[in-house]
Amino acid sequence: AKKAVLGPLVGAVDQGTSSTRFLVFNSKTAELLSHHQVEIKQEFPREGWVEQDPKEILMSVYECIEKTCEKLEQLNIDISNIKAIGVSNQRETTVVWDKITGEPLYNAVVWLDLRTQTTVENLTKRMPGNNFIKSKTGLPLSTYFSAVKVRWLLDNVKKVQRAVEEDRALFGTIDSWLIWCLTGGINGGVHCTDVTNASRTMLFNIHSLEWDKELCEFFEIPMKILPNVRSSSEIYGLMKAGALEGVPISGCLGDQSAALVGQMCFRDGQAKNTYGTGCFLLCNTGRKCVFSEHGLLTTVAYKLGRDKPVYYALEGSVAIAGAVIRWLRDNLGIINSSDEIEKLAKEVGTSYGCYFVPAFSGLYAPYWEPSARGIICGLTQFTNKCHIAFAALEAVCFQTREILDAMNRDCGIPLSHLQVDGGMTSNKILMQLQADILYIPVVKPSMPETTALGAAMAAGAAEGVGVWSLEPDDLSAVTVERFEPQINAEESEIRFSTWKKAVMKSMGWVT
Ligand code: G3P
Repeated sequence: AKKAVLGPLVGAVDQGTSSTRFLVFNSKTAELLSHHQVEIKQEFPREGWVEQDPKEILMSVYECIEKTCEKLEQLNIDISNIKAIGVSNQRETTVVWDKITGEPLYNAVVWLDLRTQTTVENLTKRMPGNNFIKSKTGLPLSTYFSAVKVRWLLDNVKKVQRAVEEDRALFGTIDSWLIWCLTGGINGGVHCTDVTNASRTMLFNIHSLEWDKELCEFFEIPMKILPNVRSSSEIYGLMKAGALEGVPISGCLGDQSAALVGQMCFRDGQAKNTYGTGCFLLCNTGRKCVFSEHGLLTTVAYKLGRDKPVYYALEGSVAIAGAVIRWLRDNLGIINSSDEIEKLAKEVGTSYGCYFVPAFSGLYAPYWEPSARGIICGLTQFTNKCHIAFAALEAVCFQTREILDAMNRDCGIPLSHLQVDGGMTSNKILMQLQADILYIPVVKPSMPETTALGAAMAAGAAEGVGVWSLEPDDLSAVTVERFEPQINAEESEIRFSTWKKAVMKSMGWVT
């Protein structure tokens, strides 16, 4: 049969903490045509450690690309219409590999990993002034960001030390690792990252948009292992193998920045909240770097082209959102699949006074408290797994409320509604609870894959590709589903203040 020609298509890799996806969009209508998803293993070799296998991540990308292409062929869509590929990725997760053999020198140290707590304490003592790191990077000194993970690898892994001495080591976040491999690896792979991913390493100066010499000296990280920093939308290289061999990779954004773009939050004051493994609320602050006084981060939002201006965002980062559901499935076994959580929560419709603070990796924004650990409290003999399931969903909403409150304080103008996306937004109970706890409407696009869409837009708009227009008039209108608050503000406040009591109890478990 003759294959349908739809006009230019753009593919996007969405490499998250829990899964990898490849999605293909029509660049004229932003319609999602086909996709494939593979879950990624997480290893917990010790308490607080979280690792992933960089090769498994790479293979999952190839598998998703191949399977999506097969599905497109079955739909009679010619894959030669795919003109560009964008990459969006879990941020901060750190890989060091050998450029001669192409082999990772250690597992990927995942952003959630806490092994660097002592490294952070030692560095805090040595810091030349409280604002040294924050004023350059927008970030607090925390286990979350890549620099301390690289420091740990240099201090503890012989293979890494030797490779650095022999000039064979390359460092990268997941975007760099993937782009290097996909563009040829040991046969000429391109070692680069984009400004959004670089801004999560704690080595990048978000004002000058360059690696910061003083920071590299402070963390004692050799600059020769760092990737080249590029804009989020330009041709980095061509796919070297597989069904899409020869297609340019021309978009790269950390997943939260990609979602901001995919949600079309291009104007100052526009914000989105993505519910993935963690939960991340980003508000576009335009061309200005705004520094938070309430525990938020300042980060690079995007720079969509070599000669285009950089945009910044304020970010509220919550470490554990979807991960709490995975924990209920994998560690407690009270559900068999993640979507069962909604059924359990629906059976009771309340947590009956049970509160669950999932501080598995300490608490991120607005507290930045590494000593916190998860607690479930308010239990009675009446409590059952449905109440715990409900409390887990409520925890995601309360954490969002905390970062939204911080955002409103920093920005001065409260958000009138919350734009949301991410896997968990298909859970209607969660969305309704979120509207009730924030006491503002929650608005969800009917096409929830905004992270991938953002990466595809960046790739399609790149110079030399030019199949996606980012002019406001050309961007297709987004259809949405709305959730209005249904409980009164007073009831919402009572629940929220009890949650805060529970948060206080979660702190100080590790000294
Ligand atoms: O900063 C970590 C973040 O990028 C992870 O995103 O989608 O895996 O929760 P996600």
